[in-house]
Amino acid sequence: MSFPCFIILYLTTFMLHLVYMPLTMYVGEVISHVIVVDQSGYGHFRKLQEAIDSVPPNNREWIEIQVRAGVYREKVIIPVNKPYISLVGASISNTVVQWWGGGGSDTLEYSTFSVFSSNFVARNITFKNLFRGAVISQAPAVLVYGDKIAFYKCGFIGVQDTLTDFMGRHFFEGCYIEGYIDFIWGYGQSIYHGCIINVTSGPYDDRIYGAGYITAQGRINMEDNDGFVFKYCIVVGKSYAYLGRPYQTYSRVIFYKSYLSNNVVPQGWNLGFALGHVGSVTHDEIECTGPGADTSQRVKWGRSLAYNELTYLLNPNTFINQDNWIQNQPLPTKERWTTSNSLFRSSQQPQKDPGNQCRGPIHSLSRILEQG
Ligand SMILES: *[C@@H]1O[C@H](CO)[C@@H](O)[C@H](O)[C@H]1NC(C)=O
Ligand SMILES: *[C@@H]1O[C@H](CO)[C@@H](O)[C@H](O)[C@H]1NC(C)=O
Repeated sequence: MSFPCFIILYLTTFMLHLVYMPLTMYVGEVISHVIVVDQSGYGHFRKLQEAIDSVPPNNREWIEIQVRAGVYREKVIIPVNKPYISLVGASISNTVVQWWGGGGSDTLEYSTFSVFSSNFVARNITFKNLFRGAVISQAPAVLVYGDKIAFYKCGFIGVQDTLTDFMGRHFFEGCYIEGYIDFIWGYGQSIYHGCIINVTSGPYDDRIYGAGYITAQGRINMEDNDGFVFKYCIVVGKSYAYLGRPYQTYSRVIFYKSYLSNNVVPQGWNLGFALGHVGSVTHDEIECTGPGADTSQRVKWGRSLAYNELTYLLNPNTFINQDNWIQNQPLPTKERWTTSNSLFRSSQQPQKDPGNQCRGPIHSLSRILEQG
């Protein structure tokens, strides 16, 4: 890049930053329109839902909705006819959307933030469900219903069903997920990359409830493509938990090269709803580390993954990103794209023999939390 060109780029970026416009270095699709949400009235709207309502139905161009720092007390729904929305908060801790929904069996309706459209991306924003009944019950912070949806550096906070990863192909990178019971559940076809999973019963006393469940994956048929793959994640917590309990007959969950603290119970997996089909549910742990990664006392039931299936699932390009939708979304910087891309390239040579050497999570934890 020549010198004057650099100056112009620098100035442009700098000036745009001042008026809170998008960064210039998008490498995926371009943003056609920017909407600013600001609680104090200095944006186009004060409420996030108002901004979403202003997007034209069956929109075909990427629209960026910037949500300035603040706690937004509202329930938000992105309907199926509002695709191509890119949602950007100020940071994972400073832009928070929260609501209180729960208390019955209409799980999906309680969600604080629901995405029914496809082609959605969010970054730097936290979603919370603050519902606190007398007993723990379903209260999702987020419901992800559409296809081709990615979350970067986002927070999901709740107790039960926090992240309802319901349906479609999804990618979560550098996210923070908090909960206690089935707090990552659904029929989603998803990769969680470098996420922090915090097992906590919040205001409830875990000594009454016993161990919680991180996942409850719902793959129903052998032909279905869904499943949850956790790569380079970190499991920490205040309470104990199973890595998961199968929710349907062909439930499929993998933890790959993740750090498991001693909050993970030695049995690892709970029978959950799998009684009678323990031979068809799949759970696997590959090269995980930390005190919770010792597999010597793990349950003996469950189907082992064939090498082909494992490599297929671990590679984002074969499992979720067949049509390169991840790179084609508007991502914040070239750097981000390069990072994701290099992660995709890394040759996955899964080894069935898990290493249990205990490397502290602190380094990677702070790295994930610090990164933009
Ligand atoms: C996990 O949640 C607890 C609250 O129960 C909190 O004290 C702790 O800091 C959280 N851990 C991380 C890594 O955020
Ligand atoms: C996201 O937040 C981080 C601070 O946590 C910031 O450095 C980064 O620029 C933000 N990214 C965008 C695209 O706003």
